[in-house]
Amino acid sequence: MTSRYRVEYALKTHRRDQFIEWIKGLLAVPFVLHSQPNAALTHVRTDDTVLNARRRYAEIMRDVEQLVNDHIEHQRLGIPERSKLKLLVPSLSIFFTPLLLEEAFMAQDTKRAISSRRFVSPSFNDIRLILNTAQIMSLVKGGPLQLVTFDGDVTLYDDGASLIPSNQVISRILALMSRGIRVGVVTAAGYEEAKRYNDRLHGLLEAISSSESITAEQKKNFVVLGGEANFMFQFNLDAPHLLERVPRDTWALDEMKKWKDEDITELLDIAEATLNDSVKTMRLKADIIRKSRAVGIVPKPGTKFFREQLEETVLAAQKVLELSDVGRRLPFCAFNGGNDVFVDIGDKRIGVACCQRLFGDIQGINTLHVGDQFLSVSGNDFKTRMVCTTCWVASPAETVDILDEFLELASIA
Ligand code: IMP
Ligand code: MG
Repeated sequence: MTSRYRVEYALKTHRRDQFIEWIKGLLAVPFVLHSQPNAALTHVRTDDTVLNARRRYAEIMRDVEQLVNDHIEHQRLGIPERSKLKLLVPSLSIFFTPLLLEEAFMAQDTKRAISSRRFVSPSFNDIRLILNTAQIMSLVKGGPLQLVTFDGDVTLYDDGASLIPSNQVISRILALMSRGIRVGVVTAAGYEEAKRYNDRLHGLLEAISSSESITAEQKKNFVVLGGEANFMFQFNLDAPHLLERVPRDTWALDEMKKWKDEDITELLDIAEATLNDSVKTMRLKADIIRKSRAVGIVPKPGTKFFREQLEETVLAAQKVLELSDVGRRLPFCAFNGGNDVFVDIGDKRIGVACCQRLFGDIQGINTLHVGDQFLSVSGNDFKTRMVCTTCWVASPAETVDILDEFLELASIA
């Protein structure tokens, strides 16, 4: 039984995506009007409810698709805040491409039988997956896709795990690279040595190394950007761990060159103090980890944090840093990593933009970021929406599905 507390907690704004919730609300009306939960209980004939529900859902998705196009037109005119969609969903950010929502709905309906359901209305996950498919379809039709960046934990491998040789995503990433598409892993995991990334990604690195389907030149199109936007490594067959550190001035953005060491120290000091405060007030069994570009708390061995404790810690750190002078000068990212909380210098908006710069100023319309953390507060993939198209996954298996959709559609395009 779900407690009232849990239900109300799930309604908190930091745990919701306004665009998805708004679409869910629109689809709830045809669900109420056309689904027939009593069909199994009576012999009274009803109309073909599945067809009706499907037609109405598809119409709504087409209407939303047109509102997105209208918003894109307002973006082009430099007045996005005046579009109808922005008035309806104030938290909306940039759309880099149109979204083929009607076609994507039909594709996901075939897989998920959304319009055949009589008791369960179109859900958050249904809509998240429709949006992902619509984004992939648009990138195949438009794009062209030149760069894909992936988050690490939960997107490429399970939380805290490594990318081992049997991971299904490897063959898909090789297929992208053989098409000349650049690939980046943009992860919060912040290590200064190539070896640590090799430990986490060895299955993929070894597969790239031995692959005969991608050229030596294409192999260099793989990079890892760790600590959100702090340490960049590029694939190199001759490097000790198949990764070589890239000189900062070839990829760092101009805005990053203004970062001062004193500011970095000051921001991390404030972050560490708020984390300590949360540990004390909630009596967390935690260890503090301080690095050159990050500070975080991890549970002591054998313990786990509650989700509410993780979010309380993130929200407290976020608020204190936002209100500090240094937090206004220096970009940072406070996020809940599932069983830890980190505050990093920089964020993934910058991380993806650095990859775009390294590969010759690739544009947002030609870039896709795949990640699992897209909640506005406490998610570290959220900010990539400012620089590229995105797909929001809930597991490494969904990442594989998305890449399969892309490769299949691209092969017949
Ligand atoms: P991501 O999902 O690939 O962005 O990785 C996030 C996870 O990396 C966090 O939840 C932490 O467990 C781990 N991690 C290791 N070092 C760092 C760091 O310096 N900053 C943030 N996260 C880190
Ligand atoms: Mg992740």
